[in-house]
Amino acid sequence: MNRNNSKIVLVTGACGGIGKSIVIKYAQQGKTLAIADKDEEQSLKLAHEIQQNGGQAVSFSGDLLDKRYCDNLANEVQKKLGSIDILINNAGLMRRGDITQTTDEDYELSMKINVEAPFRLIRAAIPLMADAGGGSIVNVSSCWGINPGPNHLIYCTTKAALAAMTKCLGRDHAHQNIRINAVCPNEVNTPMLRTGFEIRGLNPDDAIEELNQSIPIGHIAEPEEIADVVTFLSSDEARYICGSLVEINGGKAVY
Ligand SMILES: NC(=O)c1ccc[n+]([C@@H]2O[C@H](COP(=O)([O-])OP(=O)(O)OC[C@H]3O[C@@H](n4cnc5c(N)ncnc54)[C@H](O)[C@@H]3O)[C@@H](O)[C@H]2O)c1
Repeated sequence: MNRNNSKIVLVTGACGGIGKSIVIKYAQQGKTLAIADKDEEQSLKLAHEIQQNGGQAVSFSGDLLDKRYCDNLANEVQKKLGSIDILINNAGLMRRGDITQTTDEDYELSMKINVEAPFRLIRAAIPLMADAGGGSIVNVSSCWGINPGPNHLIYCTTKAALAAMTKCLGRDHAHQNIRINAVCPNEVNTPMLRTGFEIRGLNPDDAIEELNQSIPIGHIAEPEEIADVVTFLSSDEARYICGSLVEINGGKAVY
């Protein structure tokens, strides 16, 4: 089935650095956006911004820690917008530290947002997509989900779980014409990265300037450079890509 007419896209973490770029890119392609973020004010503002620019967007804000919200979200989107053709599991949380510095709260929050929420959202979306003849899902993992970076034990663990989940799903649901892939970025210029520098008492602009020197292509990723790959993976141009983990790293691999 040709999915070129796929129209309705659900994006979680839609108001964050990478999420907002993904939303804007899909809006530019004429897709209808279901905007999911825990920040209700920002979700409504982003939906309004898209509408002002001639696009279609509806806020479905809520907290991914709420199991019922996760279980019902895909159905709510289908009920209100007619279908769910593309799901982007972008929301994520980064807790830092080695295992001795990782609290029960760090563990539970990270597992719930980075692993359980995508699990619940995908489990609910698959039957809807299958009934419609297909669909596409892109998970936002991390290059640290493939090879771990230092002193981010729970973050790397959860992103590795999401990467493994993606590979299982890619194989299990290809026969239903549902393609599931993940992007695995290295450093991206977003609040998640910048607050990490602030916590360490560094000026984020200076720290990023220094970090840029370590990237073979010359700079860390801007959110738009991730959004371009996400939208490609959900498009018909990527119709034979299933269960892939696409590293986006400007030549700076993690070993
Ligand atoms: N920034 C990076 O360097 C980088 C690198 C690799 C992967 N990633 C991944 O990219 C994704 C997006 O990251 P970002 O840098 O844009 O982060 P961000 O902090 O800018 O945005 C995260 C968004 O998720 C939302 N969110 C957080 N907890 C939520 C909850 N409980 N319920 C609903 N929404 C919630 C936030 O409100 C925010 O809008 C994450 O999964 C992250 O792990 C980021």
